[in-house]
Amino acid sequence: MDAIEKAKNHFEEIIKEQLERIERMKTDYKWIDYNKLKPIIIGVAGGDGIGPYISREAERVMKFLLKEEIEEGKIEIREINGLTIENRVKEGKAVPDAVLKEIKKCHVLLKGPTTTPKRGDKWPNIESANVALRRELDLFANIRPVKVPEKGIDWTIFRENTEGAYILGNRGINVTDELAIDFKVITNPGAERIIRLAFEYAKKNNLDRVTVVTKANVIKATDGKFLEIAKKIAEDYPDIEWDDWFIDIMSAKLLDPARRRNFKVIVLPNLYGDILSDEAAQIQGGVGTAGSANVGKHYAMFEAIHGSATRMVEEGRAEYADPTSLIRAVAMMLNHIGYVEKAKKLDMAIDACQYERKCIITGRSDGATTSQMGDYIIKKLENI
Ligand code: IPM
Ligand code: MG
Repeated sequence: MDAIEKAKNHFEEIIKEQLERIERMKTDYKWIDYNKLKPIIIGVAGGDGIGPYISREAERVMKFLLKEEIEEGKIEIREINGLTIENRVKEGKAVPDAVLKEIKKCHVLLKGPTTTPKRGDKWPNIESANVALRRELDLFANIRPVKVPEKGIDWTIFRENTEGAYILGNRGINVTDELAIDFKVITNPGAERIIRLAFEYAKKNNLDRVTVVTKANVIKATDGKFLEIAKKIAEDYPDIEWDDWFIDIMSAKLLDPARRRNFKVIVLPNLYGDILSDEAAQIQGGVGTAGSANVGKHYAMFEAIHGSATRMVEEGRAEYADPTSLIRAVAMMLNHIGYVEKAKKLDMAIDACQYERKCIITGRSDGATTSQMGDYIIKKLENI
């Protein structure tokens, strides 16, 4: 078969899959109700690189806060093994089938960062476990809060998590040795569900602005659709102002003190959300300070916003990694499964620790260790 024919067949397959996905999304409207579950099963997967180090602390904090519920059988914590790069490579899969099966038996997952190989790495170029899990569990909303009270910053980023330039990242084609093509997808139900969730969040929290970010002036079909759908959904929320920005100037404006305090809820397609959330986290004190909720109607996964930082491990600095990101994710998880007061308490403890700065993580031996930070946050919790 010639190269063009092969590429056309591949493209046809992708189109069919996406059309089927659209139909599935249209009939999938019911959210899981955590109030009805006993026990709520929380899976914990440590991940790669610094993952096991920061997960250990996050799990410790979580068990501290849920001690009674675990004893009373309201919560079950379950270790999920095998989501390591070694095992994924051995099985030749982003998420080995047996591991995915175990994850699906849990209601929510606390996940340490996993290594994502790229072309030329020592690992085979398998798909990102994050991206695969987000797709397999249909975790369409990646919610990433960033707060810097003294600068008037309080942003909640709603990153679309199952479409965009990302989700087919492993399905691009090398048509010939000289031509590579990737695919970017935006669908109506996919854009609608994330944009609506962002507006609902704004409404529920009395926030009067939602900012939509695209590059619709250039990427006309997909980003154009995202923006058009935002415009339509905004009509249902007359009390909420909305504005639209292009991703390039938005990245600049996050650094503009006069402008950035106006942003509150930010909703955007996958890759833009990936990049903008790292920038936002850096403004807050580094990616090691930011947590992330991956939410779908049936499952949810909570993680740090950063990767596995294998460089830190290679340089012998893993025990100086900041666990705050994943501990923040625990707070988001508690909130999501209905333990709102405990979530608030943990958020307060983390905020207080960040404010006091008695335990400072630098990522190096001149700073605090991962477990010292865990101790510090638990001590704070004991005193709140
Ligand atoms: C994130 C991470 C992941 C992503 C990587 C590890 C695949 O950067 O959660 O933002 O790009 O989505
Ligand atoms: Mg990222």
